[in-house]
Amino acid sequence: MSNIESLSLEHRSFPPSESVVKQARISGMADYHQLCTKAAEDYKGFWANLARQHLFWHKPFTRTLDETHAPFYTWFDDGELNASVNCLDKHMGTPVQNKTAIIFEADDGKVTHITYQQLLERVCQFANALKAHGVHQGDRVIIYMPMSIEGVIAMQACARIGAIHSVVFAGFSANALHERMVDTEAVAVITASHQHRGGKILPLKTIVDEALSLGHCDAVQHVFVYQRSETPCPLTPKRDKTFADILANQPNTCEPVIVNAEHPLFILYTSGSTGKPKGIQHATAGFLLWAKLTMDWVFDMRPEDIFWCTADIGWITGHTYIAYGPLAAGATQVIFEGTPSYPHAGRFWEMIERHRCSIFYTAPTAIRSLIKASEAHPEVHPAHYDLSSLRLLGSVGEPINPEAWMWYYQHVGGKRCPIVDTFWQTETGGAVISPLPGATPLVPGSCTLPLPGILASIVDETGHTVPHGTGGMLVFEKPWPALARTIWRNPERYQLAYFPASLGGHRYLAGDSAVRRPDNGYFCMIGRMDDVLNVSGHRLGTMEIESALVALTELVAEAAVVACPDPLTGEAICAFVVLKGAYPSDHEAKQIAVRLREGVTQNIGAIAKPKYIYFGESLPKTRSGKIMRRLLRNIAKGESITQDTSTLENPDILAQFDRVY
Ligand code: WTA
Repeated sequence: MSNIESLSLEHRSFPPSESVVKQARISGMADYHQLCTKAAEDYKGFWANLARQHLFWHKPFTRTLDETHAPFYTWFDDGELNASVNCLDKHMGTPVQNKTAIIFEADDGKVTHITYQQLLERVCQFANALKAHGVHQGDRVIIYMPMSIEGVIAMQACARIGAIHSVVFAGFSANALHERMVDTEAVAVITASHQHRGGKILPLKTIVDEALSLGHCDAVQHVFVYQRSETPCPLTPKRDKTFADILANQPNTCEPVIVNAEHPLFILYTSGSTGKPKGIQHATAGFLLWAKLTMDWVFDMRPEDIFWCTADIGWITGHTYIAYGPLAAGATQVIFEGTPSYPHAGRFWEMIERHRCSIFYTAPTAIRSLIKASEAHPEVHPAHYDLSSLRLLGSVGEPINPEAWMWYYQHVGGKRCPIVDTFWQTETGGAVISPLPGATPLVPGSCTLPLPGILASIVDETGHTVPHGTGGMLVFEKPWPALARTIWRNPERYQLAYFPASLGGHRYLAGDSAVRRPDNGYFCMIGRMDDVLNVSGHRLGTMEIESALVALTELVAEAAVVACPDPLTGEAICAFVVLKGAYPSDHEAKQIAVRLREGVTQNIGAIAKPKYIYFGESLPKTRSGKIMRRLLRNIAKGESITQDTSTLENPDILAQFDRVY
C-alpha cells in the first residue's frame, strides 16, 4: 500500500489530472485565486462584467448592487430581460438551434428527444395558452407535475410571460399543495392526470381536486391537465382543461414579456425551523446569472456534453440544474421520469450507458442505496455497464460520507472523473461552495472552497470568525446576485431568519454548522443547526411533522420530532408521541403507529413519515416547559444519557421510551 493509500480517506487529496486541467475553463488554482482576487478588488465590477457577459439584456443595466435597503439587496435593478429568451431564443441561429435540448426517458424506458427549436416552439404555444386564459405578468401559477418535458415547458412558459411559478413536488400531499396554493394566491394550477413511477401509475390530478376542495383558494381560475396516460381523470367543466384543449391552434411564436431584473422568477417553498414552509422568492436576473455561470464553472459545460441531473423539478436543484441552467448553457440534458431502482437498481448506470452521459449529478442517498443494492445483487454493480462516457460527477443535497464518495469515484467515475460536492440551498439559488473540476484538489467529504465572488466564513455566536479546525455557523459576508430576495409576502421573517442582528444584520446565516480543515482551509459541512431535518436530501422541518402528528387530535396529545443518523438516508425521522388515551399495549402501539404514519403522509407526504415512533406518558421538559430535544436525540441514537438531567421536571421520564415502532 502506498503512503497516500494508507492515509484515512478524509486526508487523501485527489488533484485534477493533467488532461482534465488542460481542457478546463478554470484550470488550476492560480486561475481560481485570480478570479477571487478580482471579486475582492472590485466586487460590483466583477458581478457587472459577468452579468453582461452571460445574460442577454433587452435593456442593459447601469446599477449593479443596491444596498440601501439591506438586507433587501437588489441587483442590476434598472436592467430588463426575459428568462426564457435567455434559455431558448438566444440559441436560435446558432448551432444549438437544432441540437437536442432534452432526452426524456419515461418510467417504462420510452425515450423522446426534443431540440432547442422545438422546445422554444412548445414553450411559446404554452405561453400563448396561458395568456389566452388570462394569466398575466406577476400572477402566480402552481406547477404540480411529474418529471417530464411538459413540466419544464410549463416553467419556461410562465417565465416567458412574466408569471411567477411555484412548483410543488409531486410527492407532496393535498394539504401541502393547498397550503402553497393559498399562500401564493395562485390563479392557475398546471398538473398531470397521473404520474408513472417505479412501474406504478399514481393519480395526481385527483390530489389537486382534493386540495381545491379544502377551500380558501378561490383565486384559482384554471387547472390545466397534462394527460399522461390513457387512463381518464375527472375534469371539472369550465375550470379544468387538458393540454390538448388549450394548445390546439395556439401559434408557436410568442412575444416574450420583458421584465425588470428584480421581477420574481419563482417562489419555491422550503422548510424552516419554525412554522409553515417559507416561500423563497428568487429574482429573474440574479438567479439566471448564477444558474448559467455555475454550469460553466462547476460543471465546466462543453458543447458535446450530455448532462444528467437526477433531481426533481419540485426542488431547487431541479430549478437551477434542469429547468434553467442547462438550457441557458445550451446543453443537452437527460430528464428521467422514474426511480433509480426500477425495473432494477442498475437503471442509472444503464441510462448513462444508453445516453452516453458525460456529467452525472445526484444525491448521496441515491449513491448509498445503489451501493447497498449492488452488494445484494452484484449484477447491478456499475462495473457491468459501460460508463466510459462520464467525465465529471456531482453530489448535492446532504454531506457525502467519504466511503460513499470513494465508491462513486472508483466504480462510477472509474478513478478518472472529478467529483464536485456542491454545497448550496434553496435560498442560495445555485452551488456556492464547490470544487472546480479543473482546479481544486478534491478531498472526500469536503465541499472544498467557496466559488469566486462568494465570501463564506464560519463564526461563533458573537459573530467572530472561528479558527480553522473549530466548528461554527456558516455565514456569507456579502450578498451575491442569486441570493433569495425575500420570503413571499413575509419580509420580516426573511430578515429574522437569515440576517440576525446578533451577527451584524447584514450577513446571510445559512443555518448549517461547518468547520474548515486546518491543513487547507477546506469547508466540511457538519449539518443543520436549526430544527431542519435532511432525509434523503429532502429538507423537512421538525415543526411541520410535529404539527401533522398533533393534527390527529383524537389520538395525539403531544409530539416531538428529532433526527437520528441513518446509514442510507443520512438522517431518519424519529417521533416521540404522547397519546391521549392510556399507554398502549404492544398490539395497540403497532396499530397506532400505522395510523400516525398515514396521518403524516396525508398531511405532508410520504417523505415526512417517521421511521421510528416512541410512545411515552409525557415528554421530557425543563422546569420552564421546554422540550429537551437534546435528550430525545440521545434516545433516538440509542446513546445512554450521561448528561445532567437535574433540570428536567421529571428525570425518571426517560426510562419510559423503551419501545420503538
Ligand atoms: C444540505 C439543496 C452538505 C445543507 C440544494 C443545506 C448539503 C440544505 C450539501 C439545503 C452538501 C446541501 N454537503 N450538506 N454538498 N448540499 N446540503 O434547500 O444542510 O433543499 O442547508 O437545497 O441541504 O437544502 P435545500
